Amino acid sequence: MADATHPVDDEALGARVLTALGRVIDPEIRRPVTELDMIRGVDVQPGGTVRVDLQLTIVGCPAADTIERDVRIAAGSVDGVSSVSVDVSVMDPAVRAALTARLREGRPKGVQFTPDSLTRVIAVTSGKGGVGKSTVTVNLAVALARRGLRVGIVDVDVHGFSVPGLMGLTDEHGVAPRPTRVDSMILPPVAHDVKVVSIGMFVDDASTAVSWRGPMLHRTVNQFLTDVWFGDLDVLLLDMPPGTGDVAISVGQLLPHAEVLVVTTPQAAAADVAERSGIVARQTGQRVIGVVENMAGLVRPDGSVLHLFGEGGGAETAARLSRGQDSPVPVLGSVPLSVPLRQGGDAGEPVVLGAPDDPAAVALTGIADRVVALGRGLSGRKLGLSLS
Ligand SMILES: Nc1ncnc2c1ncn2[C@@H]1O[C@H](COP(=O)(O)OP(=O)(O)OP(=O)(O)O)[C@@H](O)[C@H]1O
Ligand SMILES: [Mg+2]
Repeated sequence: MADATHPVDDEALGARVLTALGRVIDPEIRRPVTELDMIRGVDVQPGGTVRVDLQLTIVGCPAADTIERDVRIAAGSVDGVSSVSVDVSVMDPAVRAALTARLREGRPKGVQFTPDSLTRVIAVTSGKGGVGKSTVTVNLAVALARRGLRVGIVDVDVHGFSVPGLMGLTDEHGVAPRPTRVDSMILPPVAHDVKVVSIGMFVDDASTAVSWRGPMLHRTVNQFLTDVWFGDLDVLLLDMPPGTGDVAISVGQLLPHAEVLVVTTPQAAAADVAERSGIVARQTGQRVIGVVENMAGLVRPDGSVLHLFGEGGGAETAARLSRGQDSPVPVLGSVPLSVPLRQGGDAGEPVVLGAPDDPAAVALTGIADRVVALGRGLSGRKLGLSLS
């Protein structure tokens, strides 16, 4: 605050600086620094010299340089400010504890995405491996974030995590950043405006094989949904491992209200495996909202289409999943085989961003639009279920 002993216009300048600092967003927590108790004071000297007392949440905060720079720029942009100095310190534990409690909004420690939260939880599943779940997940996430939605991804493919790489979060050795911890709160790294957490961020090198069995997998998935602070999200996407194993069962138990997208290839034979993953999801109360057909016909330079993986698998899977349902399960889109899509995955820039006019990108953006248009239905949701 402006020092009360200074003349009135210094006080007014201090208030304007504080307003300007309200536009500085902590890149990890994604809230204004002024709301995070990070500005301890603004001192205005005669002549427009301003000193900002900035306190970071933790020692070695990776966002420290960015925050300090943004604070300097914001304060310096205020009319009447001639120079800015920033004193950087670290919050004392009591202030930090109060902050983390406030961010959790008094919510008891537990899974954040309970059935009554406003976040839509969408699990991307498949019967078979390698059909493009992770690719579909990251592209949907980025497409939804581009529409202005607040989006997170939990990579629950513990054994075969790939989201950090697909989102460009890994370094040249394939290593993902370790998330910042503020006390027991884990802050998910942000890429392309999407908050991401993956087991790949907790292992020492990219080639580490995580060979956990059921209980450990369950604990990990639970921790991702409990200790990772996502803040308010509109959509949380889960990149599932292939098939119907332990992780699928854990997710079903922890998030029985999740919606499910089933990814399949156009191959007719893939339909029964894909159907199985949808059926297992339903057994825990989850609702299958649609099928995405991936690796559909490749359009060749001469305009002809090469159906490398056959045709009709998406429609067949949707038809099977519709049996006995009140409303049919739609095919939300068919994504063609695409070189730019594969390259975008390798480069960590999802194709909907890197080559938005590519037919695969157009299809994926269309699927994101359809997911939004479907809205969050209540049918098939077990409301009020208590989670442990
Ligand atoms: N439409 C497509 N065109 C070209 N390549 C694709 C397409 N979709 C996915 N791929 C490529 O296929 C491979 C497998 O995709 P992805 O990792 O997304 O599948 P997945 O279902 O998540 O696999 P897993 O079951 O191992 O988790 C990747 O190399 C990806 O770049
Ligand atoms: Mg995958």
